[in-house]
Amino acid sequence: MSSSSKTTYFIIGGNRGIGFNLVKTLSSSTCNVVIASARGSPSLPKNKQLEDLGKIRKNVHIVRLDVTEDESIDNIAGEIKKMPSFQGIDIFIASSGISDSYYDVLKTPKSVWLEHYATNALGPILTLQKVYPLLLLKKLGKFFHFQCCRVYYRFPTYTCFCVWPVKSCFEL
Ligand SMILES: NC(=O)c1ccc[n+]([C@@H]2O[C@H](COP(=O)([O-])OP(=O)(O)OC[C@H]3O[C@@H](n4cnc5c(N)ncnc54)[C@H](OP(=O)(O)O)[C@@H]3O)[C@@H](O)[C@H]2O)c1
Repeated sequence: MSSSSKTTYFIIGGNRGIGFNLVKTLSSSTCNVVIASARGSPSLPKNKQLEDLGKIRKNVHIVRLDVTEDESIDNIAGEIKKMPSFQGIDIFIASSGISDSYYDVLKTPKSVWLEHYATNALGPILTLQKVYPLLLLKKLGKFFHFQCCRVYYRFPTYTCFCVWPVKSCFEL
């Protein structure tokens, strides 16, 4: 199969959790190419399973990305383009995110709201802005973004989750 007829996925947050499992499943087919992002060096213990997969599967490529760092986002398209035989991205899946707030919603500090918003909502969108020209190189152009931010509403008799309204899936 020629590299232009393969489907190329770009998965951010690909080193663990849902993202890593998507990388593992999608790269099990040689019809797919998977570009997976990780924060920090691939040799860090948290990135080891992704690094190990990249060593045994030639269709897995690892790039570094921190979606809260402007410089990292600015560099991402250039990093992806260095990949051998790169022809464009078909599908961008944003699986990076944090969920580190266990405050009552009425007591959640502004800094915590902003950190979750910057990471879970803005980060993938700002990354999309940079990789959009690479999606235009292929015909498919799909973007999936699944995130949630948990904050407890704890009123006297009832507790529930607030899910951040950032679930999107659209064709570009
Ligand atoms: N698991 C669920 O049941 C569930 C349900 C609904 C929605 N979600 C949402 O789906 C997403 C993935 O969930 P998960 O369970 O796979 O989470 P996870 O296991 O905690 O993995 C989070 C991923 O996001 C990456 N990440 C965090 N901050 C980042 C940053 N600033 N820049 C780049 N990458 C960053 C992490 O990389 P590091 O290793 O570097 O931290 C990791 O790869 C989350 O947004 C979560 O809220 C999850």
